[in-house]
Amino acid sequence: MTTQHASPITLHVDLGDRSYPISIGQLLLSDANLINRHVAGKRVAVVTNTTVGPLYLDKLVRMLSDAGKQVTTIVLPDGEEEKNWSSLMRVFDVLLQEKCDRKTTLVALGGGVIGDLTGFAAATYMRGIPFIQVPTTLLAQVDSSVGGKTGINHPLGKNMIGAFYQPQAVIADTSTLETLPARELSAGLAEVIKYGAIIDVAFFEWIEANIAKLASRDANALAYAIRRSCELKADVVRQDEREGGLRAILNFGHTFGHAIEAGLGYGEWLHGEAVGCGMVMAADLSQRLGFIDAATKERVTALVKAAGLPVVAPDLGKERWLELMQVDKKNEGGQIKFILLKPLGTSIIMPAPQDALLATLEACVG
Ligand code: NAD
Ligand code: GLY
Repeated sequence: MTTQHASPITLHVDLGDRSYPISIGQLLLSDANLINRHVAGKRVAVVTNTTVGPLYLDKLVRMLSDAGKQVTTIVLPDGEEEKNWSSLMRVFDVLLQEKCDRKTTLVALGGGVIGDLTGFAAATYMRGIPFIQVPTTLLAQVDSSVGGKTGINHPLGKNMIGAFYQPQAVIADTSTLETLPARELSAGLAEVIKYGAIIDVAFFEWIEANIAKLASRDANALAYAIRRSCELKADVVRQDEREGGLRAILNFGHTFGHAIEAGLGYGEWLHGEAVGCGMVMAADLSQRLGFIDAATKERVTALVKAAGLPVVAPDLGKERWLELMQVDKKNEGGQIKFILLKPLGTSIIMPAPQDALLATLEACVG
């Protein structure tokens, strides 16, 4: 990673009385005032996992304890396959054993798995307690920590059990990305590419021009990518918090991606890898329907590839692909809905004709 330090910035998710700040910058986990400012009561429970805990938990606990907070820690096993009911129960078990009251603030320290699960625990423990997102993966800093989608997986479908529940604050310390494995960095870049492809063609072009810097963790490039992604996401969430319509565009690539994740078994492909490949498939489908040209589809494919993500989908079998895509929250009346590019930088949500969909599966599966 380069040594330049972009100045910390604060964005806002404007949702009336559920509004909250997103702080983005280096070494924010060393800023005790920042986190303590968002903890109203005396008690805090930090949820993390066995990978992130050894890296950052002590530092966070010290900052909270030094400010007089009573801190409980909950360290879960790592992995997408652990984003389940039994991990959620482990959180509730500790909260109840430790007699955590409804003024307790939950802090999610980790990637999207910990963030989604902790957010859902916060939404449901004693019918709702405050929580703070401290995302430590690129994916979580650009996407999952913002917008209040919380939940766990069901063996039959990804993120099928959950709630919309907004955090008090998001604190994205970009220095934590220094310890992130390269494969996880690439997974986060998938969601960054997503925003450019569906909302902001100028941002897509910026990512194309800066993909090498992003992949080599240039601090300034990453800071801009995180900031722009959060700005774009916050604006969508402000307009459609509970996904009545518009917010579904943020699922670009996810109809295919979720099928890959569930079809192979959670954790086999990373979420961002499945989304990356899913975006290539969605671009292929967009081209088949005449919404973008072949050159644009190639641009999407080339960028996903340059981010270090897979562009050839696993062979799940056509029947299984269709069955898996049926289990999607966007679907209505049994119709599978897709987010398609029309053109690059804009998107629409619609069902696709079966022949075009089958042709995409045929073309994209390896
Ligand atoms: P993750 O939470 O599994 O984290 C990836 C890996 O990196 C894990 O092994 C983790 O322990 C490790 N890790 C985290 N921070 C680290 C650090 N700083 N240094 C070293 N290792 C670190 O995966 P993710 O990609 O962050 O999140 C994926 C999850 O997010 C999926 O479950 C997906 O469904 C969810 N998601 C949710 C939303 C939303 O809006 N709520 C949006 C996108 C994705
Ligand atoms: N990642 C999709 C959303 O937040 O809506």
